[in-house]
Amino acid sequence: MPKRLLVANWKMNPATPREAKALFAAGSRAAGGLSGRKLEVVICPPALYLPLLAPKVERAGAALALGAQDGYWEPEGAYTGETSIVMLRRAGASYLIVGHSERRRAGDTNELVNRKLKAALAAGLKVILCVGEAERDQAGQYLGWLRGQVLAGLAGVPARLFPKVAIAYEPLWAIGSEAKRADTPEGFLEQAIYIRKVISSLPGISKEMALAFPVLYGGSVSPENAALFLSAGQASGLLVGRASLDPDHWRQILKTAETTL
Ligand code: PGA
Repeated sequence: MPKRLLVANWKMNPATPREAKALFAAGSRAAGGLSGRKLEVVICPPALYLPLLAPKVERAGAALALGAQDGYWEPEGAYTGETSIVMLRRAGASYLIVGHSERRRAGDTNELVNRKLKAALAAGLKVILCVGEAERDQAGQYLGWLRGQVLAGLAGVPARLFPKVAIAYEPLWAIGSEAKRADTPEGFLEQAIYIRKVISSLPGISKEMALAFPVLYGGSVSPENAALFLSAGQASGLLVGRASLDPDHWRQILKTAETTL
């Protein structure tokens, strides 16, 4: 079985470097107790904390990595306020999240998401592409929306780089403290199958590659529902927001991901 990918999206938290170090230490202690054979654990802190945490990741070993939550595609230049993907890589990130709904809400179109994704692959990063519908309408129009996000996000990516990409399916109504509820494992599984079907239509992608393509679940993941998404939902991993900021919850989620069949 391929490794499960467990991604902590800290968003714009915590408020101080000292807290970031403490949260990281607690999280890596939790990851350190696990074998590392079954899980790849990725912590995505605010970019400013990457250089603080990078030396600690090296000490923690191979099953733990750092990721960035966003980045700019040009390597350098007159782009006030931006941080380039290449800089993030140098600061210690080996993953990049692209297309998170909170970034899309701030203006990231499918086209920008695609640029960021391609720039990340070119810089040697692995990518987590977030997709998800705002609502699940009876007529099933959300499937077209999802398809559009997957196709546009992956446009122009050669098949040989697909092993560097995972998709996180995160329905908007399930994300964050305003969330109505998490998705159901069954609802997620249907979406994951649909996403793999869309991927199988891409040039150079065999049926086997599409079937093995990692689709993670994200949106109100908790210690209580993690096992269900991984077992009944057959999720390839989890993208965890709020629960990753609570060391006890994060530890329980990692343990569950290691022990759930
Ligand atoms: P949540 O966030 O786990 O707090 O719902 C998930 C995400 O936004 O990636």
